[in-house]
Amino acid sequence: MVILSPSLLAADFTVLGEQIKMVEAGGCDYFHFDVMDGMFVPNISFGIPVLESVRRATRKVLDVHLMVQAPERYIDKFADAGADIITIHQEACDCIDKTLDHIHARGLKAGLAIKPDTYTGVLKEYYGSADMFLVMTVEPGFGGQKYMDKCTGKVRSLRKDLTDAGLDTDIQVDGGITRENIEVVLDVGANVIVMGSSVFSGDIRANAAYFTDLFQKRNRDQKGSMS
Ligand code: DX5
Ligand code: ZN
Repeated sequence: MVILSPSLLAADFTVLGEQIKMVEAGGCDYFHFDVMDGMFVPNISFGIPVLESVRRATRKVLDVHLMVQAPERYIDKFADAGADIITIHQEACDCIDKTLDHIHARGLKAGLAIKPDTYTGVLKEYYGSADMFLVMTVEPGFGGQKYMDKCTGKVRSLRKDLTDAGLDTDIQVDGGITRENIEVVLDVGANVIVMGSSVFSGDIRANAAYFTDLFQKRNRDQKGSMS
């Protein structure tokens, strides 16, 4: 199933609650929440108190992307603040198995992310234990960057490898996804689509509705082809 996860990093924080409602009016499944620590990535964004506020503003799935060194330190804090999914970076964590288990023990879904230069093969040993793999399609740290074309092949090969292993684990893509390249990432097998600028620039409600309609059509077509 194709899922829209608008990234709150691109929202106007002075009116965050209103913008969440505008997105919801257009339609979405998740909200993507980008946490940056100024160490794993060169930028600092927002964290636990902001997630608590967002939790009060929406019932949608909160998809927390930890761009944080040693993320195992913060699993309980983000779980308590209302996360539904917590994604950690392969490059940032020395105890991935234990941390995925910890996320599951809190009753949440666990994601594992890689940066554009990390080989997808490193994910293999976590095929059974992660609920979602995030393939970054820009260098993490900033919204509004250009999609890196070299990532298309990575998503394709990860999807093929998962299918060969008999799995249909979610593949999330994050960074530079637009109306122009959305079909490309869907065609190679990504199904959880993060979008910041493409949802929050211009008419937020109309943007969310545009992608929701497109994804619903995809989901219907896929259902049709399976029956
Ligand atoms: C980048 C973040 C992204 C970012 C995407 O480090 O992980 O989630 O907000 O923003 P756009 O869609 O504008 O590239
Ligand atoms: Zn993100």
